[in-house]
Amino acid sequence: MKKIIIFDTTLRDGEQSPGASLDVNSKIEIARQLARLGVDVIEAGFPIASKGDFNAVYKVAGAIKGASICGLARAIKSDIEACAGAVKPAKKPRIHVFLATSKIHMQYKLKKAESEILKLAVWAVEYSRKFCDDVEFSPEDASRSDRDFLCKVVESVIKAGAKTVNIPDTVGYAMPAEFGSLIKTIKNKVPNINKTVISVHCHNDLGMGVSNSLSAVQNGAEQVECTINGIGERAGNASLEEIVMAIDTRKDIFGVTTSINKKELYKTSRLVSKLTGIVVQPNKAIVGRNAFAHEAGIHQDGVLKKRSTYEIIKPEDVGFGGTRLVLGKHSGRHAFNDRLVKLGFELDEKGLARAFERFKSLADKKKEIFDEDLLSIVEDGIVSIPETYRLEDLSIASGNKITPKAAIGLAKGAKLLKKSSFGDGPVDACYKAIDAITGLKCRLLDYSLKSITGGKDALGEVTVRIKSNKDEVSGRGTSTDIIEASAKAYVNAVNRLIFNRLPKISPKPAKLKL
Ligand code: KIV
Ligand code: ZN
Repeated sequence: MKKIIIFDTTLRDGEQSPGASLDVNSKIEIARQLARLGVDVIEAGFPIASKGDFNAVYKVAGAIKGASICGLARAIKSDIEACAGAVKPAKKPRIHVFLATSKIHMQYKLKKAESEILKLAVWAVEYSRKFCDDVEFSPEDASRSDRDFLCKVVESVIKAGAKTVNIPDTVGYAMPAEFGSLIKTIKNKVPNINKTVISVHCHNDLGMGVSNSLSAVQNGAEQVECTINGIGERAGNASLEEIVMAIDTRKDIFGVTTSINKKELYKTSRLVSKLTGIVVQPNKAIVGRNAFAHEAGIHQDGVLKKRSTYEIIKPEDVGFGGTRLVLGKHSGRHAFNDRLVKLGFELDEKGLARAFERFKSLADKKKEIFDEDLLSIVEDGIVSIPETYRLEDLSIASGNKITPKAAIGLAKGAKLLKKSSFGDGPVDACYKAIDAITGLKCRLLDYSLKSITGGKDALGEVTVRIKSNKDEVSGRGTSTDIIEASAKAYVNAVNRLIFNRLPKISPKPAKLKL
């Protein structure tokens, strides 16, 4: 079966989601998981955008084996040079250069005529090829471009050496049949089309990102650009997990395959949600908490009699735990580790000891431990950044007739630092007390709380996003007590902030040879 190339742009277009900026370490952590997931290309950032973006692409390029590492550049000399420098450490580097071809973009944004755009596109690809063999070109806003002009641009950039030509539906305007026909037209009209890979990149403004991508695949697209959880600019990009599972579940229609390791999908979704602070809606296809939950009695009865009556995908195939109820208070370390390995986590001695300690303390408060609980135990600090501060003590006085007050004790090395504070509510009081201890001035940008499993003793999971000076980070905390989960999430974000501010050895931009 023909293989569709999966180009993941979570770290570039995904990071353009409002409020989703990722620090270098988070980008590396996500890139490692994307490599485990088996994506073919990782677009790691837009190197000219900032020093941080350059650094992130450079570090990801050095850290990841297997996947191609790509950076984005406008058709501008300095962009292409920065991009070439950033992807240089990669085993398989790629430069992705873009230039708009629609009338509205050419006239108002670029203020250039068709002939100038055509020349610039060719120049940009030729210049990129001086640094890198693997060059991708995107005619931005392709779906709203004049088809004849678009075909001319595509033909010319292929002649100039573009190995991939990506057709973006930049503003999510196209409809599936129309977008499929655009790909067919390009395939039929561009004489040298077989010398390149045709890619698509669909946004979700009208909710058509995945449908348009799949329609393009049916009409000959060979690469699909997408993001985990569908995050991205405005309404987001086509969601990777939905595209992959549609192709896999409906092989009868698509007749193609991907190299994605489906069992890693859920874990990847959780990691991206944790590090970006963007919560996945419960009814999100494939990775939402309710994606495999059967509520109606008739459905439950059907599933018990024959699973496929109401389930078209086995939850365990995409990495949801096969068994719902797993461990309890009396489970031993061996069974605990066994279950973690089945969920895809192989911890070292130290990590396992810490995770087991957390598991035991959770089992004291909660009778039944589910796979989702285990995931949050492992993700909550075991595979993460150093804990400069650790929440030790927390007590709250709150009610509808008194001003809420929190007393907080944070461990910093061997010291226990204590402060108390009043607040508008118990969470606000905690956050003020934490700020008083750390001396950092943080603004809370976003706060969300969800329960991880059902029942009154369920774990609550809090995700926060905070800002201090120009730095924005997110943090996550879990506990059976939601105030404690809130404080842990805040401390986790503060630790991330401190870690990001530590002096790092920054890469020297690679020497560019022409
Ligand atoms: O949406 C878009 O057109 C893009 C391009 C840079 C590919 O993100
Ligand atoms: Zn885009």
